[in-house]
Amino acid sequence: MKTIALFALFSSLAAASPASKGKKVIDSGKYSRPMGAAYFLTNEPSGNYVVAAAIGSDGKLTLRQATSAQGVGSHGGPGNGTDPLFSQGAVQASAAGNIVAAVNAGSNSIAVFTIDHNNPTDLEIIDCPVPSGGEFPISVAINKAGTTVCALNGGTVNGVACFAVNTKKRTVKPIANTVRNLHLNQTTPGTGPPGSASHLLFSADGKQLIASVKGVPPTPGMLAIWDVAADGSLSRTFRSVAPASGGMNPFGMTLIPGQNAIFAADPAIGLEIFDLAGDRSSVLAVPAQGAICWSTFSSKTGNFYTIDPGAATVSEVAVQKKSLKPTLVKQYFQGNGTATIDAQVATVGNNDFLYILAAGQSAIKVMALRAPGNAVALQTLDIAGPARRAVFATNSVNLQGMATFIN
Ligand SMILES: *[C@@H]1O[C@H](CO)[C@@H](O)[C@H](O)[C@H]1NC(C)=O
Ligand SMILES: *[C@@H]1O[C@H](CO)[C@@H](O)[C@H](O)[C@H]1NC(C)=O
Ligand SMILES: *[C@@H]1O[C@H](CO)[C@@H](O)[C@H](O)[C@H]1NC(C)=O
Repeated sequence: MKTIALFALFSSLAAASPASKGKKVIDSGKYSRPMGAAYFLTNEPSGNYVVAAAIGSDGKLTLRQATSAQGVGSHGGPGNGTDPLFSQGAVQASAAGNIVAAVNAGSNSIAVFTIDHNNPTDLEIIDCPVPSGGEFPISVAINKAGTTVCALNGGTVNGVACFAVNTKKRTVKPIANTVRNLHLNQTTPGTGPPGSASHLLFSADGKQLIASVKGVPPTPGMLAIWDVAADGSLSRTFRSVAPASGGMNPFGMTLIPGQNAIFAADPAIGLEIFDLAGDRSSVLAVPAQGAICWSTFSSKTGNFYTIDPGAATVSEVAVQKKSLKPTLVKQYFQGNGTATIDAQVATVGNNDFLYILAAGQSAIKVMALRAPGNAVALQTLDIAGPARRAVFATNSVNLQGMATFIN
């Protein structure tokens, strides 16, 4: 009897302790100090968790902790496939700001966390999640300094909204004059992929906030671009840039380093380049593509990587410096049924690794990017088993997002 009473007392103390609130330990990882972490969302309607895997010095992952985002996930329709939010950037990390930001798509809120430097898989939520300024938030962007988080809402009330993050005071506050409408004919939860919002990011100089939006054939989608003023406020209206002929659905965007240009995945054709200096765009038709939706860049290989859940391939693409001409370098098959979606590169020591959410397999695939045209499969990390043992729900159709952080 005594032990039971003591146990109950300790359990209630643990539950009340703010340090452990909403955290599910998957692996305490006492034996090693991670180089960084990779984060993705369970996006479950019963409770949304940010799941963190430790990145080792060899680039390999170990699942460590799931932290409640204090909200719920959602799934757009029609159907119940993978890529529930039709988006890239559902979770983002900033080393400069030492924060992780994530969408609660079913709660219309954004959760911001601080990262523990000694253990980047341990996140601490800042205050309560903030209302996202619209409905069905699907993507977040963090500025270079890691002090501003903007949300892309893709529901009936769609558009963007931005927030100032103060990690010392532990506050996340709306920034005046940043709630801006995209005027999409949408629903909550969202309807797509056609006509849905895709991804949000800041330009390299931080002076523009850019959202990608998919088209409804025969009308192509666009990049919607707001000017960001010194006080963080956004221009009242956005400038719209259409993809070049053949482009239809601008999806996951990646800044082209050193250029005022954007590399965007497009599941209608493969990918497109937007040269924002002259509002020019060009497309690359990728052979045998199923639905290329996500993109990321490796500073080590100098190449871009796109992810295709339909054909289950990663396509490596080079972009010429001056002409911005894209060329296909190599394709890497990931296996039928993997339904690879969100992905991000991390630089560990002197090596780049590509972390891909293989939603169909409830796994993360890790590739070592050894050199241009030489990416090698390194690891397949199971998510479903460890999640079950740590007692939090996951479903392959709800998983979304991939962000990396290196100490
Ligand atoms: C979608 O799939 C998930 C996981 O299999 C299931 O729990 C959920 O009920 C499904 N939703 C619908 C609307 O079919
Ligand atoms: C909005 O979308 C619905 C559903 O597809 C469609 O029936 C309606 O005509 C659209 N409205 C406008 C103004 O385009
Ligand atoms: C994958 O699926 C394709 C199309 O159905 C099929 O042609 C191919 O043989 C499959 N590959 C493997 C390795 O099972």
